[in-house]
Amino acid sequence: MLIDIITLFPEMFAGVFGESIIKRAVDNNILTLRFTQLRDFALDKHKHVDDSPFGGGAGMVLKPEPVYRAVRNVLAKSDDNLSRKVIIPDPGGAVFTQAKAKELAALDQIIFVCGHYEGFDARIYDLADDLISIGDYVLTGGELPTMVIVDAVARMLPNVLGSAESAQTDSFFDGMLGFPQYTRPRDFEGKLVPDVLLSGNHAEIKKWRTAQALTLTRNRRPDLIRN
Ligand code: ADE
Repeated sequence: MLIDIITLFPEMFAGVFGESIIKRAVDNNILTLRFTQLRDFALDKHKHVDDSPFGGGAGMVLKPEPVYRAVRNVLAKSDDNLSRKVIIPDPGGAVFTQAKAKELAALDQIIFVCGHYEGFDARIYDLADDLISIGDYVLTGGELPTMVIVDAVARMLPNVLGSAESAQTDSFFDGMLGFPQYTRPRDFEGKLVPDVLLSGNHAEIKKWRTAQALTLTRNRRPDLIRN
């Protein structure tokens, strides 16, 4: 999968994408990350990408020209045959879910447009196939949401997770929270590992895990059961 990220702050991504599973996916050529510096597409010699809002008000608004030019530049260097979406992380978008991560993982290319400052000129939204929010709170820019979405999508790509990290046991894998897991020691300060997990009876273990997942989901996230 090819992921393009249009941003004023490409350095923000180095730590998150330079470690662990995402780094391995990049090293194994399962995932290609390309960064585009939005400021390079500013029109004026001072490289302004934002301006004050028409109608007055506080803050600055991201100008349309640099964003359109940056997206068009990315499209021009992309293969026409790729299935793709342009995504703008935005608190006004649909809230991101595991189902959406799975859907996006089936694409060949995703182009993220990260805003900063107070907001986007409204005409920029015409570029987006999807607006995605990562929750009902406002962040300073689209970079952190992009990292969150890329992380969740990348781990759904074939061969990114080893069997030890399988997505099958994830919370939300089948719309429920994951079942509780235990490892050694069997007795930690008097807190014992449930006997069934030591029984070697795989049918019983499976039944117990399903029941536990249901109970946990009902207690902690009853909204998931209703859905
Ligand atoms: N940009 C600012 N806040 C955001 C949020 N909660 N989700 C996605 N993009 C955002």
